[in-house]
Amino acid sequence: MKKKLIAGNWKMNGSLVANEALIKGLLTGLGTPGCQVALCVPAVYLAQVHALLADSAIDLGAQDVSEHEIGAFTGEISGAMLKEFGVRYALVGHSERRQYHFETDAVVAAKAQRALAGGITPIVCVGETLAEREAGKTEEVVKRQLAAVIHTNGHCISEIVVAYEPVWAIGTGKTASVEQAQQVHAVLRAQLKAASPQADRIHILYGGSMNAANAAQLLAQPDIDGGLVGGASLKVPDFLSIIASAL
Ligand code: PGA
Repeated sequence: MKKKLIAGNWKMNGSLVANEALIKGLLTGLGTPGCQVALCVPAVYLAQVHALLADSAIDLGAQDVSEHEIGAFTGEISGAMLKEFGVRYALVGHSERRQYHFETDAVVAAKAQRALAGGITPIVCVGETLAEREAGKTEEVVKRQLAAVIHTNGHCISEIVVAYEPVWAIGTGKTASVEQAQQVHAVLRAQLKAASPQADRIHILYGGSMNAANAAQLLAQPDIDGGLVGGASLKVPDFLSIIASAL
């Protein structure tokens, strides 16, 4: 059975001093984790965090990657650049990018493709808003978001990670119930299986107010292969506790 993956998403938090304290605290308490662990950090801190994580059990992740390869795209960061800093994962299509930066399904699919081409595993985020859930459109929305990535990436799809993050559960303290989360994960699993014979190796993470208290129950669901953790990844004891519950 594949090991679970717990990925922290620092979002726009951190400082040189705070990052060092956080990572030293994590590495002190981590021991040999029973799961894979990654930290998706702001781009300006990739070099610092890469050095701090050297020879550790924690992988480095970015929070975004350009859909372009190279050239006149001011402010963008390419997959090849990320790779130079030891980046293994890149979030793509996080709901905050879709919402505040108007990233479409097509852009998200292109970003996933660029990441894969650069040897980086995209963590493709999908999820419905509260209005979409209340309108009974959850499955339709997540399937549409994932379909765009499958369509663009073809047989490489078994190399991605998927993160189901109901938008209404992100940073709100509201978590999807384990039944709600498992149900959507099963839908995504079936969609991946229809696209790739190797779909079983794909991690499908749950994200949205995952914390030390609810992680074990969520991670015990058959189709929940890990977590994408925002707020709780900034607190050493909470993040270590989530990692410990990912067996
Ligand atoms: P949260 O964020 O854990 O703070 O809800 C998760 C995410 O947005 O990745």
